[in-house]
Amino acid sequence: MSSLIDSPLLDPGEARTAQQRVATSRRYLMCPPQYFAVEYSINPWMDPGQPVDTGLAFAQWAALKDVYERLGHRVEVIDPEPGLPDMVFAANSGTVINGVVLGARFRAEQRAAEADHFRRWFARNGYHTIVMPTRVNEAEGDFAWTGTVLLAGSGFRTDPAAHAEAQEVLGVPVVSLRLVDPRYYHLDTALFVLDDQAGRPHVCYYPPAFSPGSRRVLRRLFPDAVIAGTADAECFGLNGVSDGRNVVLPIEATTLGDQLRERGYQPVYVDISELRKAGGGPKCCTMELRD
Ligand code: ARG
Repeated sequence: MSSLIDSPLLDPGEARTAQQRVATSRRYLMCPPQYFAVEYSINPWMDPGQPVDTGLAFAQWAALKDVYERLGHRVEVIDPEPGLPDMVFAANSGTVINGVVLGARFRAEQRAAEADHFRRWFARNGYHTIVMPTRVNEAEGDFAWTGTVLLAGSGFRTDPAAHAEAQEVLGVPVVSLRLVDPRYYHLDTALFVLDDQAGRPHVCYYPPAFSPGSRRVLRRLFPDAVIAGTADAECFGLNGVSDGRNVVLPIEATTLGDQLRERGYQPVYVDISELRKAGGGPKCCTMELRD
């Protein structure tokens, strides 16, 4: 991984604080929302009665992809499939660490077919170790790699038995966390990793989304974490994507953006209003390929 010396989005006034944080270039997999719609409801954000503007969703997705590219990241694109309106949420379809792919197994029948489209993409794109899970596993929706341990959520989607399966397949230590609020049904709606380099992980999370025991685990592991408030959680601010310095956030998450700036990060805002109608944000649209 190479360092981004000069981020094109870096405001010169921020240069001093941002210097403390080092960005590393990433490779992401995204799926255009060509067939995006809210046709069923599998989380509390989804209301099939509310209109969705697919053209606007596409523009917002394209702007997100553009932000990643301007930050120096590489974005791979998988072809969307008609009849799979949630396929834009690529994070749910695989967890890739050290070139090993653990695929997905969806809880909702409506999304089940997505897993095999992604499995085929991995097979066509040079991945040799691809394991499909036997337990419900919504991939990076519920798994967050910190660089040292894999944080794994359960409670609404991913089966806790999939956590042990992930440890076995990926060969990394897994720490299980339990989610308790249905609005924060995936781990990536309540927690994200700010820095996964140098063995000193830094995370950001929203404590009320977790069980009391899981909150204690998080406090013990990450005494230094950035703690987000309710308004930032409600606009999907915890669905951020960080490269170690630049943190892509929904445009409404301004309090969190200020907190991150104080800690030396550079917030980069995107508008995800249409994608949020399906219960998704920037991270949901973004699978990281850690080769
Ligand atoms: N409508 C999708 C679902 O409920 C949204 C998934 C969002 N993805 C995520 N990584 N949280 O499954």
